[in-house]
Amino acid sequence: MKKHLHITSRKKNKGSALARRIKGFSEMRRIFEHEAPGPLIAVHAIDKELLKHLQDTVATYVSKSLPFDDGPLEEKNLINAYEEFEKSILCVTPNGIIVPKRNTTLEFNNVVKALMKIVENLGISAFIKSWYIPLNVRIKFGRVHKKDLKRAHATETTHSDSWTGLSSESVIIHIPLFGDTYHNSVHCYDPPLTFQEDWLAPRLSYEEGAEIVKRYKPIDFVCPKGSVMMLDTATLHSTRRLPGCGSRISLDAAFVLRKEGSDENCDGIHPMRENEHLSPEIMSLIGKEYMFVFSDSPDEIVTSGDRFKHAANIRLTRKL
Ligand SMILES: [Fe+2]
Repeated sequence: MKKHLHITSRKKNKGSALARRIKGFSEMRRIFEHEAPGPLIAVHAIDKELLKHLQDTVATYVSKSLPFDDGPLEEKNLINAYEEFEKSILCVTPNGIIVPKRNTTLEFNNVVKALMKIVENLGISAFIKSWYIPLNVRIKFGRVHKKDLKRAHATETTHSDSWTGLSSESVIIHIPLFGDTYHNSVHCYDPPLTFQEDWLAPRLSYEEGAEIVKRYKPIDFVCPKGSVMMLDTATLHSTRRLPGCGSRISLDAAFVLRKEGSDENCDGIHPMRENEHLSPEIMSLIGKEYMFVFSDSPDEIVTSGDRFKHAANIRLTRKL
């Protein structure tokens, strides 16, 4: 009898871990218009003017990150330039992050400012406990190098970003912007009812989560270009390239979600990422009263130095 009671209560707890997440995430997503391909995913079509502004700032930033200055390039030329000069572009990590350097400081701040306008328009500011910094502008080439797929945290391997030390209470933002965003996309997976919070603990490699991935269900959905997709950390995901796909440029960011029942004093941030988060108040003043500054020279090859730290060397300063 005792044994039976024990099993019943354990089953109840397993179910409630997912229910708690769905409740917290739903409270945020009901604020804005969206499509929900899964209970822990929200996809919102960005206001046209705000999207155009974001695309302009990203195109300017990505163009300035090239080893030559031809001014801001439009979509097709931008993708072509990255494909043609891939080997001589030193600011791109194996995971495709275009890392901000000294020469792209101003342009990067403008991207942050444009994203914050979109977040403000969504009306979710009260749900944001802290932002991870910096956000990432990425190029995902159509052709991937085999050696890069073997990396511990290759985005092509299905994962949760909490496995690299992001708080398990985070929300991931993904915005496909340029190029072949349909065939070269982010593929998502729904958690099962048996979901447990400890599945989201940091891992030295994404491969270590292979047994957990098997319990998830793939979602047949591709985020349209110009929409913002928001994922609860319990939604696993991976870069998916369909045969013959082209390259794409997208933006990703993450914030810790404020929800009922979460510990206000604990963000669950990995010690290696303590310097990589910022209050929503200061984040909304980037480009106005504050600026991100990057000291690395454009000639330095990027490296994160360890498995968890971001590849950019970022510093916050007050704007003069
Ligand atoms: Fe990810």
